[in-house]
Amino acid sequence: MRVLVTGGAGYIGSAVGAQLVAAGHDVVVLDDLSTGHADAVPPGATFVKGTLRDCAAEVLADGIEAVLHFAAKSLVGESVANPAKYWSNNLGGTISLLEAMREIGVRTIVFSSTAAVYGEPERTPIQETAPTRPTSPYGASKLAVDTALTEHARMHKTGAVSLRYFNVAGAYESAEGKWLGERHNPETHLIPNVLAAATEGRPVQIFGDDYPTPDGTCIRDYIHVADLADAHLAAVDALLDRDGLADYYNVGTGRGASVLEVITAAQEITGIHQPYEVVPGREIDPPEVVADPARIRAELTWKAQFGLEEMIESAWTAYSRTPAAAIA
Ligand code: UFG
Repeated sequence: MRVLVTGGAGYIGSAVGAQLVAAGHDVVVLDDLSTGHADAVPPGATFVKGTLRDCAAEVLADGIEAVLHFAAKSLVGESVANPAKYWSNNLGGTISLLEAMREIGVRTIVFSSTAAVYGEPERTPIQETAPTRPTSPYGASKLAVDTALTEHARMHKTGAVSLRYFNVAGAYESAEGKWLGERHNPETHLIPNVLAAATEGRPVQIFGDDYPTPDGTCIRDYIHVADLADAHLAAVDALLDRDGLADYYNVGTGRGASVLEVITAAQEITGIHQPYEVVPGREIDPPEVVADPARIRAELTWKAQFGLEEMIESAWTAYSRTPAAAIA
């Protein structure tokens, strides 16, 4: 099948693109390289540099049968400072993509959504039926896309699946032995920050230790990027099998780990004893965010295979092999 991967030079898009190539699909990556890295595009994929607005129609018209849509801005803090950037890129970009799909007749899309659509949950684990009350423009823009996609699919009798990721972590090893890990700049995520601090011999910062959790630090549901890649392939298969599928699925393990547990696990894996310092918590961090993955397990027969240790180990391998200059 010929598949378009938007944002396929980014962390998650490049891993899913590599998995699609390995599964024998004909992959086209569209990425403007505003945050992605050209060297992360899987060998064997066709690469088009450009934006959704300028290039989606032309790329889709070249025989694309399904779209996996990752291209987006994804920094929560930046979205609070500059909401218009998030509405314009995340919602506006997707509307351009959907319009082009409708004109050309491409009927299948899988979207990279987020647990941020739920905001501060009333209870965990979080089911898809939980209230959606995002606390940042980032989460709000992703929720708007979830709605636009499923409405578009219902109106035009096409297929759309939104995968609401929890905390994606780890690195993906491609068929060529290349490790595709997080290379964000700035890096805000916990696991890469812990590994960078360990390597540089400085303390890692814990954002708050007075949350209502057993050890006082925030609990998250970390999900391996390789498991996430499998979830995308399962979603594409389900869309091709089931006419009119338009739904949202949580993608997590159903197990939470606290910030302190992540730091302790990382110490064991790196062998580096790492001091930490507690600094004030970020304002919009909910104490506990854990998925209930029952719906995706039942309907797409997908289940996470990897745990926290494998995520940190793979992230560590990727980090150790990626020169700092390649992250910038
Ligand atoms: N944290 C630290 N120190 C750091 C970095 C993070 O203590 O250096 C803490 C955060 O406060 C949080 C936890 O580690 O409690 C995880 O933080 P991340 O930044 O790795 O991830 P978030 O949970 O903030 O964000 C993730 C996704 C977002 C998504 C959000 C929804 O990365 O895209 O979940 O809950 F919006």
